[in-house]
Amino acid sequence: MGKAVPERVLTNKDLEALVDTSDEWITTRTGIKQRYIADPDTAASDLGYLAAVQALANAQVRADDIDLLIVATTTPDMPFPATACIIQERLNAKNAAAFDVAAACSGFMYGIEIGRAMLAAGYQKVLVVGVDVISRLIDYEDRSTCVLFGDGAGAAVLGSVEPGFGFIASEIGADGSGAMLLHVPAGGSRIPAQAKSLEAKQHYVKMCGREVYKFAVQIICDSTERVLRKAGVAVDTIRWFVPHQANVRIIEAAAQRLQIAADRIYVNVDRYGNTSAASVPIALAELAQAGLVEDGDLVLMVGFGAGLTWGSALLRWGGFER
Ligand code: ACO
Repeated sequence: MGKAVPERVLTNKDLEALVDTSDEWITTRTGIKQRYIADPDTAASDLGYLAAVQALANAQVRADDIDLLIVATTTPDMPFPATACIIQERLNAKNAAAFDVAAACSGFMYGIEIGRAMLAAGYQKVLVVGVDVISRLIDYEDRSTCVLFGDGAGAAVLGSVEPGFGFIASEIGADGSGAMLLHVPAGGSRIPAQAKSLEAKQHYVKMCGREVYKFAVQIICDSTERVLRKAGVAVDTIRWFVPHQANVRIIEAAAQRLQIAADRIYVNVDRYGNTSAASVPIALAELAQAGLVEDGDLVLMVGFGAGLTWGSALLRWGGFER
């Protein structure tokens, strides 16, 4: 695992100077205290590259041993080429096929599901990067969205592990009927960039917060239960529950319904805000780097986001080839 965030920290106090909000409102409604914001020269590939380099070093894998590079992002450097190709070139991962996946905050979960399938199909080492410079899509005059998000990247190297370790069960899913609950209206082929769309602020995130909240709690529970059932594993055997870090209230509500004890839930949304596709891999990278996850531990990751999309994966940590 690897991770990278920009240097600049934007605190709740800083936001108080930008919009009509308060540290108290943000903390009680979301659990977020600060987030990292990329400077104007930093694009998704810059953060994604840093996370990828760290993941390769931690996995002791050389860039030219990667045969597939998947980048999950909704904030690519540009519409094309794929950000995966830009990162591939910087890593000199010359033996890797490279493409992007757009599944918003579920992007990393989609990426590892595809990566797993490609490993089963014969690929040897898959690098999955989840990265978003989501601040580029945020209107810092809109208090209902600007307090929630932050920039970052996380990365994972997938490969074969010893028997008894690795992925046990997983799923990805989508419900396009909720597509407009969380979207950016312009910047694509429907409404290309033009003076009118800029003036109307159509290049920014539009969100129905309450509906997304309800969806999030429900889907975390449903998807987790389906994956546990598929794996034949009881919820109290999970050592680390690693949910998408959007809002601590969402995490707590889902955990309460699923009856997962607080000391088994990894939460870092207070420090990063919602980093979209980077959220789950940053959390997992932190767990690994802090030595909090041990060989044999069961780890359950759940992502959800725009689309609407979701994805979950249960794995037994460890058994890595060195
Ligand atoms: N500061 C102060 N007041 C605010 C702020 C703010 N930053 N934002 C909204 N308010 C106000 C609203 O205007 C509203 O005022 P009103 O009652 O006078 O109209 C009041 O606070 C309550 O607003 P609600 O929207 O009802 O607040 P809620 O408790 O639902 O919390 C929140 C809002 C935090 C956005 C919540 O709905 C949420 O977390 N939703 C999920 C969002 C999410 O996770 N999105 C990302 C999904 S992942 C992806 O793919 C990107």
